[in-house]
Amino acid sequence: MPLAHSRVARSPYPETLRAILNVKSADQSRAWLSHWDLINPEPTPLWNLPHAAAQLGVAHLAVKDESLRSPLCSFKALGAPIALMRLIMRLWPSHDVDPQALIAGRHRELVSNFTVISATDGNHGKALAAAAQSIGCHCVIVLHANVSAEREQAIAAYGARVVRIAGNYDESVEHAAQLAKANRWHVVSDTSYEGYEAIPRDVMQGYGTIAAEVIEQSSTTSGEPAFTHVFLQGGVGGLAAGVASYLWEHYGANRPRFVVVEPRQADCLYQSALAGHAAKATGSVDSVMAGLACGETSPLAWKILQACIDDFMLIEDEDAVAAMRTLAAGSGDDVPIVSGESGAAGLAGLAKLMHAPALAHAVGLNAQSRVLLISTEGATAPGVYAELVGASADTVATRRDEWAAQANTTSNATSNATSNATSNA
Ligand SMILES: Cc1ncc(COP(=O)(O)O)c(C=O)c1O
Repeated sequence: MPLAHSRVARSPYPETLRAILNVKSADQSRAWLSHWDLINPEPTPLWNLPHAAAQLGVAHLAVKDESLRSPLCSFKALGAPIALMRLIMRLWPSHDVDPQALIAGRHRELVSNFTVISATDGNHGKALAAAAQSIGCHCVIVLHANVSAEREQAIAAYGARVVRIAGNYDESVEHAAQLAKANRWHVVSDTSYEGYEAIPRDVMQGYGTIAAEVIEQSSTTSGEPAFTHVFLQGGVGGLAAGVASYLWEHYGANRPRFVVVEPRQADCLYQSALAGHAAKATGSVDSVMAGLACGETSPLAWKILQACIDDFMLIEDEDAVAAMRTLAAGSGDDVPIVSGESGAAGLAGLAKLMHAPALAHAVGLNAQSRVLLISTEGATAPGVYAELVGASADTVATRRDEWAAQANTTSNATSNATSNATSNA
């Protein structure tokens, strides 16, 4: 069975975890990053999909659409940039660096000889390259053999120097660490390892913005969460930790049930759940879900996840592709959504469970369930997207915008639990 349950506490958010990630610091990250001209000033839409909910047999289904977070097309715009800002502020404590001025490039002279480096499977590296360009420092990005040429071009377009290696993701991480050591560059990674926690913590903390917006967009009169279940796709575990920790701290013991979804070939979080400690994937770590193709759990993320993720599940590549198509198609009632390979993993996980009654029951999903998914990316590899969906991302985006305009005029786009932020769609 592609499912592992954890016996996690239904308790208030523990002080030990608050020392790692907390709402206060996430909200500060959100405020600082709001000054970046590559972040959309509006919250990303929280779309209500009544048709898909009825098809799947749940009461309510909402999708937070991170394709509209930024021209970078993914939630990763919330991570590396804020970590880079905080790193520079730590390295130059006596320079009174102002965050708003920093991300606008007004401390350019201070950082003109400063170089950051990271390995990436695409989205993290693009966000780091874009932030370095805005701030005015240098950026080197290490890519493994399976990163597509169009993802490489997208990173290079933001001024980064790209180093390509023959090996896999984990080898690219190692290569970046060696280059950093040899050249006295600074690694800005989204995954932690022994002795390296401050930067990945700041990256994860940035993702809390997604949860903060969801709380604002779905507030209920009772103050209880609008959702019974939240699906979070897993790479190294940073997204899941950043979002789940915020929701847990906010709602306490009444938090929703958290389900982590990974590709079968890159099952490091699932294996961690089985082992009871941060573990490695058992598969090939090669998946169409490029952002989730990670072989090693981030130990810092695992400290949060082991305490609050209720269920871990695995999906196949074809499940993700089917979910991309469902989201792209929309219906009269459901907006078409541009959701990339990793973005659609949450819907793929939900569909897999709802089509197997015993699995749905095991995760507490039924006709009363109110489910939140996060579409973490749009078409970050447009060629791959068009090939898999059978329509270009531009075509789907046009249909989305037409749907939203129509819904605005007939004002059936909102429910009391979900607001469709059509203004930035
Ligand atoms: C689109 C997308 N979704 C989800 C993830 C998973 O995030 P994490 O590695 O923090 O678990 C990634 C990671 O790169 C990603 O690019």
